[in-house]
Amino acid sequence: MSQARVPVGVLASGSGTNLQALLDAAATDDFPARIVVVGSDRPGALALQRAEGMGVPTFTVRRKGHASREDFDAAVAHQLLAHGVRWVCLAGYMRIVGPTFLDAFEGRVLNIHPSLLPAFPGLDAQRQAFEHGVKVAGCTVHLVDAGTDTGPIVAQEAVPVLDGDDAEALRLRILAAEHRIYPRALAWAVADKLRIEGRKVRIDEEGR
Ligand code: GRF
Repeated sequence: MSQARVPVGVLASGSGTNLQALLDAAATDDFPARIVVVGSDRPGALALQRAEGMGVPTFTVRRKGHASREDFDAAVAHQLLAHGVRWVCLAGYMRIVGPTFLDAFEGRVLNIHPSLLPAFPGLDAQRQAFEHGVKVAGCTVHLVDAGTDTGPIVAQEAVPVLDGDDAEALRLRILAAEHRIYPRALAWAVADKLRIEGRKVRIDEEGR
């Protein structure tokens, strides 16, 4: 492609299937971002192994080693910035990122959440939705702000809850949708197609 790809860092604490979806998208010819580094708060996270398997540099910063969340956030941001990261994707990152972190990236931070926000924020959202008895579930990519799962919504995909589902079946159906919307949302973000108007995010397909 003619334009340089935008450098992106991914933070993940767990198995990293969303990271994998982003890495796979970034390996295609016309994707506008490249994943330049993957970080975790958990040494040995499967997400780190996925990155290493694809030749992407990794780092681990443990919360334990830092006196405050601010210090921890600053250390993580420092690692990402040292790799030239412009946008950050949180992908199953089990930490709340604070203002220190958000300021370092001027708000260029995305998160994926396994519910149709604003329903079911927080932990174990798929189980919350399942136990609530919803008929439609789904996932959300949003910009990260100071709250928990509260930032402006960039993309959502709904999935049905089927008779005979258990919480795990629903989790897997939502996860497959996550893998579809996260690369798409990241592509819009790095191509500067997000127009943020208060809580609303318009996708400017014309670009600038
Ligand atoms: C996903 O369901 C994501 O929405 C949530 O944490 C899970 C991470 O899964 N934030 P994986 O590590 O990407 O497989």
